[in-house]
Amino acid sequence: MKRIWFIASLFLSMSMYAQVNIIPQPVELKMPETAGQFVITAKTPIILEGAGLENSARFLNDYLKQIYGFTLPITKKAGTTPGIRLNFDRLNHPIPGAYNMEISAKGVYIGGDNATGTFYGVQTLLQLLPTAKASSLPVSYLTIKDHPRFQYRGLHLDVSRHFFPLSFVKKYIDYIALHKMNYFHWHLTDDQGWRIEIKKYPNLTKAGAWRNGTIIGRYPGTGNDSLRYGGFYTQKEVKEIVDYAAKRYITVVPEIEMPGHASAALTAYPHLGCTGGPYQVQQTWGVFNDVFCAGNDSVFTFLQNVLDEVMPLFPAKYVHIGGDECPKDSWKKCPKCHKRMADNKLKDEHELQSYFVQRMEKYINSKGKTIIGWDEILEGGLAPNAVVMSWRGEQGGIEAAKQNHDVIMTPTNFVYLDYSQSKQEDSVTIGNYVPVKKTYSYEPVPKELNADQSKHILGAQGNVWTEYMKTPKKVEYMIFPRLSALSEVLWSPAEKRNWDDFEKRLQEQFKRYTLWGTNYNKKLE
Ligand code: ACM
Ligand code: ZN
Repeated sequence: MKRIWFIASLFLSMSMYAQVNIIPQPVELKMPETAGQFVITAKTPIILEGAGLENSARFLNDYLKQIYGFTLPITKKAGTTPGIRLNFDRLNHPIPGAYNMEISAKGVYIGGDNATGTFYGVQTLLQLLPTAKASSLPVSYLTIKDHPRFQYRGLHLDVSRHFFPLSFVKKYIDYIALHKMNYFHWHLTDDQGWRIEIKKYPNLTKAGAWRNGTIIGRYPGTGNDSLRYGGFYTQKEVKEIVDYAAKRYITVVPEIEMPGHASAALTAYPHLGCTGGPYQVQQTWGVFNDVFCAGNDSVFTFLQNVLDEVMPLFPAKYVHIGGDECPKDSWKKCPKCHKRMADNKLKDEHELQSYFVQRMEKYINSKGKTIIGWDEILEGGLAPNAVVMSWRGEQGGIEAAKQNHDVIMTPTNFVYLDYSQSKQEDSVTIGNYVPVKKTYSYEPVPKELNADQSKHILGAQGNVWTEYMKTPKKVEYMIFPRLSALSEVLWSPAEKRNWDDFEKRLQEQFKRYTLWGTNYNKKLE
């Protein structure tokens, strides 16, 4: 049922052999009047003219090795052989990542505004290479001037509902880099598993990282597989991922969920819940009443201690504290929560949630970091410095921007990449319908905002909740090709957005997906 146009247009793309097909579309692309090609072979040097551009050279070589089976020599001095020159052009663009590129008989020149820009120039170069394995790689003469539209270009991954090995997390980060995106939001804790080692609280992973079964099929399921399921990342592995991402100019934002989505944490440390338990790491999907008690000071001490271990692992200025889908049932019945409300003159449980988030924000701010929270953190009053991630549509983002808060847009109906891509989806998904064209049509700056308020829209992000993604292949099936559409939404000038043109370029992108060994079109369970 999926991507019928792929087959239909294979034949179309054959006639576009010499055309370049870059996603996201560059700001300015010119082909010279006299067409020509520079040919990259194993003898073509990468010339590091600027200092500190080794990441770009390494990424290029790793890609060439993986796809074409050879690497290029890296030198610091230009000889007589034309090569791939990596350098800086000071462009003074307000958002890091601008670059110039020129391909001529003299070779390839990439000049980045900064190292990030040079790296993005390399990503563009990769898209000019042939889409079949070869030992000589012709690239068309052209000039490009390019820069990103938004500063936050994110992709999220939920590793709680299903756990993904380090090797796939790295591959996922490569996908982000190949799309000139720069944030990886790592959803590390939830009801169905706690996935990050915390040395002070070993039970979080000893007990909290494992569930005793998982429902079979779509919620509510046809039974339970009764299989122990889980896993977690050690702090050493987390550092490895953060370092891997940094070499690709990607910032990793950790999410530690509070006060809801806390079943796994409470299973490990039941005294942190309103009732004291017992609790279980959940085996089905949805929203649960097992939330952190807002009236117990030990909860705040615990979360601060957890964050004291988490924050040093992540150089990002942002820490995501969740804040979504926190039912108030337990708080309503809890004497400690009632006392907290009375002592602080809080009029309802929404204000209690706001108290919780603000208290945590104060601590996180004191460590020099900024919190991000899902749009529920607006309810009961926004924490003073919080960034809002608007997911239940755009309204939360609009409201937050009007209150002069920064916003990252992640509305379900455009960028929830767990939603089905086709109307009659063969595989099991959470449902709904967000085809690639819908994602492509997304405009992150709501028209309700004036120019000043619009500046608070940092960008947008695709969210990948993995209830129905048990394997890396299924994740790939869900994110592609919508990730490519999203990359253009976030990078390219709004006035350049053109679905028909994108759809044509996508045909070449499908071939790249194949080269990468990505499962973008085979349906899976
Ligand atoms: C969310 O999808 N619950 C943020
Ligand atoms: Zn309580």
